[in-house]
Amino acid sequence: MQKTTVLAHSDIALIKYWGKKDKVLRLPANGSLSLILDALQTTTTVAFDVNLGADQVQIDGAVEEGEKSRVIAHLQRIRDLAKQAGLIKTDVFARVMSVNNFPKSTGLSSSSSGFAALTIAASQAIGLQLDERGLSILSRQGSGSSCRCVCGGIVEWIDGDTSDQSYAVQFAKGDVLPIRDLVTIVAEDKKQISSTEGHDLAETSPFFAARQQQISTKLQRIKQAIQARDFITVGEIAEAEALEFHSILLTSQPNIFLLYPGTVEVIHLVRKLRSGGIPVYFTINTGFNVHVLTLPEYEQTVLQALKGLSSVHKVLASGIGDKPQLLKEHLF
Ligand code: DP6
Repeated sequence: MQKTTVLAHSDIALIKYWGKKDKVLRLPANGSLSLILDALQTTTTVAFDVNLGADQVQIDGAVEEGEKSRVIAHLQRIRDLAKQAGLIKTDVFARVMSVNNFPKSTGLSSSSSGFAALTIAASQAIGLQLDERGLSILSRQGSGSSCRCVCGGIVEWIDGDTSDQSYAVQFAKGDVLPIRDLVTIVAEDKKQISSTEGHDLAETSPFFAARQQQISTKLQRIKQAIQARDFITVGEIAEAEALEFHSILLTSQPNIFLLYPGTVEVIHLVRKLRSGGIPVYFTINTGFNVHVLTLPEYEQTVLQALKGLSSVHKVLASGIGDKPQLLKEHLF
């Protein structure tokens, strides 16, 4: 059992995972598609140690009970697999330390990169030999969207009807369509509702059934547009998807209203730039921060315009990232 450190990137879904067919296994209601983001990173070190009496978990220098119990449940999945494989006879506890280079719990998907890094580091540290599909299936059970972050580039999560059929694959390499994501931070408050709680409410929206009827067509259309390197169509679909997703949030019972004045200001700016001829679109997750999508040649113009808004605190400029990597330097 060797101490292992993994760096994984977060992602932004252009077609969102929202709602679950199976809550325990985290089987999604629909397939989804995301960009892996090279600028948003989680680094995690895991060491199993026979001398520990319990798992020790630290994320960004703190121990938060809700997160800790999810991490421990995931470590237990990995220990159970290791027992089945004959690698350990009884439970061995682990020390886990994780750091993000971006604000967590603000709707920037720190759990997607976090669980991908944890899955790869812990399974390798305990001696499991899993291929990318196996890692994706395992990671999905910790946090659904993290199954995409074990891959690199532009990634599709195939929804699947059973656990073995629900995993992510690379759909295209990043250079097929080199989208830039200007991750625009308007606040670093902790969001009021977790994605996990939100998923459970999806079906209470009267719009959810309508979404399900056309979501696979939408996924096909965006895949065709990516292959055709047609950024305008990709952007149009991604923006419409973000608005549809938020309309589900707004009409869930109880409703989920996450947008801040700054969020709306950024949206208006994106539309104004677009009417001036710049190909730029937005998408938003369960939060108030905005992912502003454009092409490399327009990045500086869009960046300067965003920085001109008083509501914008920070912009993290990201390209499309690779799959996770093993690091030689450990966090402890
Ligand atoms: C809006 O993967 O965080 O970001 O499986 O309960 O951990 P759990 O949910 P999570 O949900 C992410 C939702 C989303 C859309 C997406 O990333 O596809």
